[in-house]
Amino acid sequence: MNAGIIGIGRSLPEQKLTNFDLEKRMDTSDEWIRTMTGIQERRIASDEENTSHMAKKAAEKAIADAGIDPADIGLILVATVTPDQPFPSMACVIQQQIGAVNAAAMDISAACAGFMYGLVTAKQFIESDVYKYILVVGVEKLSKITNWEDRNTAVLFGDGAGAAIVGKVQEGRGILSFELGADGTGGKHLYQDKHLVMNGREVFKFAVRQMGESAENVIQKAGLEKEDIDFLIPHQANIRIMESSRERLGLPVDKMSKTIHKYGNTSAASIPISLVEDVEEGRIKEDDVVVMVGFGGGLTWGAIAMRWGK
Ligand code: COA
Repeated sequence: MNAGIIGIGRSLPEQKLTNFDLEKRMDTSDEWIRTMTGIQERRIASDEENTSHMAKKAAEKAIADAGIDPADIGLILVATVTPDQPFPSMACVIQQQIGAVNAAAMDISAACAGFMYGLVTAKQFIESDVYKYILVVGVEKLSKITNWEDRNTAVLFGDGAGAAIVGKVQEGRGILSFELGADGTGGKHLYQDKHLVMNGREVFKFAVRQMGESAENVIQKAGLEKEDIDFLIPHQANIRIMESSRERLGLPVDKMSKTIHKYGNTSAASIPISLVEDVEEGRIKEDDVVVMVGFGGGLTWGAIAMRWGK
């Protein structure tokens, strides 16, 4: 039996920061941001709302959605580059908060591809019968490492969390194939010094190439054709990058997830947040073939083809 997602949840801060708000703070415009990135607003966590708070809320929703007992979770994986502190890990912090008393716990640092790395790691432990359930969270409070003096990056990012419970699902469903990758030579294009620093042009080129390639690779590995894909969830970094992978796969506009206009780029949280909304709003249905693909600092990338349903 394949490993698959049996419960999902998300958490977003209340406070919205619109492009018009940013116009008042820096030399930018709603027109530029919308045209160049597709973003209209993003959520910003308050000083009191930390990464672990958002992670806990998303995790609790995923646990309730899966209908499992937290004590049956064998492993917690939290993908984040903005933990509250280097240690204890976010996974250990929420282990205690959600009462997952029997779970091992660790964080994953793979930037915006982190949730893909988490799901793929979970798949290995589930299919080898080591653990029954694994909690995977993608969460970021990017606002705390954003350089609010740098219009090149400040307009792009937002805060939030998404979570999934991974367990065994019916034959034919679940994670069908995956690809993970990294290219450390590109680390200089996207990194944290004190703040987040980015060479947008280079990241853009890498992302367009890698998103399309990885999506095609997982389809092939699953023994499927492009025509078999029902829905694409690309990492929500830039609408132009997302559109290029959608077009490469030959999918219509309504078959691609789009939350970037509301939340900006939430890094490791972007794919699980989108997944929750697509399922809740009926765009993803049982037995749909869904391709998820992410890329980010490292450089890293990851893609998964799955058949949705328990
Ligand atoms: N408002 C207004 N103008 C801005 C701006 C902003 N927020 N940010 C940059 N500009 C200006 C630049 O200063 C530059 O002006 P100039 O021509 O007078 O020098 C012009 O817009 C073009 O900037 P450039 O950085 O060359 O644009 P671009 O076509 O590369 O687009 C991004 C910028 C950030 C939208 C694009 O590079 C991108 O999305 N890259 C990928 C980022 C990404 O996905 N990161 C996350 C990875 S997980």
